[in-house]
Amino acid sequence: MPKDTFISKLLTLRLQMASILFLGASGQVGGAFLTVFRKAYPDTPITAYLRSTTLDEALTSLGNINIVHGTFEEPDRVEELAATHSIIINCAGSFNPPLTAAILKGMKNTKALTPSDRRPILLHFSGTGNFQPQPRPQDRRELPPNGATDEMILAAAARGDFNALFVCPGGIFGQSADHVGLKTGDASARAAGVWVEWSLKNVQNLGFSPYIGPGTSIIRLVHVDDVVSLAMLVYKRALETWETYKPEDVYSHFYVCVDETVESKVVAEAYAELLVREGKIGEKEARKVGYEEAGTTAYYSAGNTMVEPVRAAELGWKPKNRKKFLETLKESKYFA
Ligand SMILES: NC(=O)c1ccc[n+]([C@@H]2O[C@H](COP(=O)([O-])OP(=O)(O)OC[C@H]3O[C@@H](n4cnc5c(N)ncnc54)[C@H](OP(=O)(O)O)[C@@H]3O)[C@@H](O)[C@H]2O)c1
Repeated sequence: MPKDTFISKLLTLRLQMASILFLGASGQVGGAFLTVFRKAYPDTPITAYLRSTTLDEALTSLGNINIVHGTFEEPDRVEELAATHSIIINCAGSFNPPLTAAILKGMKNTKALTPSDRRPILLHFSGTGNFQPQPRPQDRRELPPNGATDEMILAAAARGDFNALFVCPGGIFGQSADHVGLKTGDASARAAGVWVEWSLKNVQNLGFSPYIGPGTSIIRLVHVDDVVSLAMLVYKRALETWETYKPEDVYSHFYVCVDETVESKVVAEAYAELLVREGKIGEKEARKVGYEEAGTTAYYSAGNTMVEPVRAAELGWKPKNRKKFLETLKESKYFA
């Protein structure tokens, strides 16, 4: 049998045995990823664990999806589900250590069938905040938001409990035409994602849109559809390496996912424009402030994201979505 045919048969066989636990189906990334994933892998059974019930019809229509309702505040249920699925895709709560602890506990005590008795797989969404130099010397000892969960996953995967692969997006923007909630007009299709949502809330709380110093620090952004396309490649990689992955390989499975580069003052001006247009704040101009006055997202406004998607490119990832951040903010329907 030619080698290519053999490998593709092997992959098909593995997929027949795999079952997926999916967290974050209603999110900005998860809602789009699930649709795209289902088209590419129609036969792999998926359990979507989510608290919303409004997506049930849309999720069911994707086919081969078992819906379990629940929250991340129910660790025993998360643990049991993680123990009974061979692949966990976590598109939610990258800054939620108790959630990750429950997933890891379940995977360590897996009862799931895996091909040739291999370890289960965790495809985890983290972020690039981890790789950002701390904006102030006194922050040096603080872990960035995703750091705590990443460290837990790194330690457990390095012990050999499971194979872990990380997708690390920069600030994600845009609303995907693939979002599962679009079909039924569900509000989840307008999910702004954590970065945009944190920023908009911060500006609304302050009543103005802040930038720090000259506002020339840079943040790396990426369109949600490009995050999905990288996640698909990383999933494929997870299957291809299922048998050969060694515990120490976890350190080489961080896939940085960034595209556009924007200065923090430009971002602040765009948020001011959007929120004035929506009647949420009155101050049209972005305001120059010190770190202490910039509110809860100061860490992101002040720091520079100094990363490049080198490993993603090695997988063949080329961001395609040419719609820019500023353009999508002008079209956004976050407040519809
Ligand atoms: N967006 C970004 O710029 C960015 C950048 C780097 C990393 N990330 C990480 O990438 C992942 C996906 O991001 P995203 O922007 O797509 O997130 P998102 O739109 O905020 O979606 C979060 C998902 O988690 C679910 N969720 C949150 N708290 C829950 C709880 N207590 N119980 C049950 N479900 C809960 C939400 O469900 P509900 O719909 O019920 O709320 C939603 O499905 C996250 O881990 C995020 O931290 C995001």
